[in-house]
Amino acid sequence: MPLVGGKKGEVIATGSTTTNLHQLVATFYKPSGNRTKILADELNFPSDIYALKSQLALKGYDPEEYLVRVKSPDGRMLRVQDIIDAMTDDIALIVLPAVLYRSGQVLDMERLTAATRERGIPIGFDLCHSIGAVEHALHDWGMDFAFWCTYKHLNGGPGSVAGLFVHEKHFGKAPGLAGWFGSKKETQFDMEHTMDPAMDAGAYQIGTPHVLSLAPVMGALDMFEDAGLNRIRKKSLELTEHIMKLIHVELEGLGFSIGNPVDNSRGGHILLEHAEAARICKALKADGVIPDFRAPNGIRLAPVALYNSFEDVWHTIRKLRVIMDEKRYEKFENKRGVVA
Ligand SMILES: Cc1ncc(COP(=O)(O)O)c(C=O)c1O
Repeated sequence: MPLVGGKKGEVIATGSTTTNLHQLVATFYKPSGNRTKILADELNFPSDIYALKSQLALKGYDPEEYLVRVKSPDGRMLRVQDIIDAMTDDIALIVLPAVLYRSGQVLDMERLTAATRERGIPIGFDLCHSIGAVEHALHDWGMDFAFWCTYKHLNGGPGSVAGLFVHEKHFGKAPGLAGWFGSKKETQFDMEHTMDPAMDAGAYQIGTPHVLSLAPVMGALDMFEDAGLNRIRKKSLELTEHIMKLIHVELEGLGFSIGNPVDNSRGGHILLEHAEAARICKALKADGVIPDFRAPNGIRLAPVALYNSFEDVWHTIRKLRVIMDEKRYEKFENKRGVVA
């Protein structure tokens, strides 16, 4: 709860990111009259876009027409004012990323949520790249809902149980996708055919949770509590600052550019762009550093504040320098692997 700034009952560990998004859209997308469209952005994560399109199609709306995607001026960042300008009378729901998965830009969730309040449009955010990396005050901002995974900055391990937030003002709203785990705990095992939904975010669970994957998440959350998110964010900003400084010193003139915001509106990762990014990533992996390749030209470097040191960062950039000087990347094809 402290990681997202939710109150007791507003947060639940459940499902996966994409199934939670389906659940929340099925609950909050209520087209009526002229308000029929969903607003997202053109830099949004593909799975979220697929989910939104399929939810539109299920309601009989053509996704190409009814999914509005705010354009990015440079293919990396979004302008908050452009998103606000797109909150027109025909928008029934808004789903945006809190931190953009490629450039790491942190969107101003507070300002965006405030803008929807004036217009009466429900808004939800994908926190996959912000949870555990930046501070949130979802309850105080009045955000309607949010959803996230626990396997990026929270270090829960791939596929670990996800989470969602629903603001208490919506308590009692029936879940769009019902399942017995969304029942009140006192009545779930009465085995009645009429569901008695929980009054809080628990209503949005569907089936039996992935119990084994809860264990590493619990361990990870304990560490976050011990360390404190404000200290983690401080160190994370220092680590990414250090990466950017070293990039300027060590990689100048080698064809790299920085694709993330350089001010404090960056999340927990750096996006290093290069025409040979796919094979530079493979060379880094061969040298023991695990980046993410993000097509077409992005090398995502995500130092983990809990255990990565400034020395790790230095070694990484030095390795990159050697890879470039010795053209070690030429041993690999400039094409991503099955998992980027
Ligand atoms: C921003 C974002 N949204 C959604 C997803 C999809 O998550 P899942 O595979 O857990 O449904 C991911 C996965 O990496 C992601 O990074």
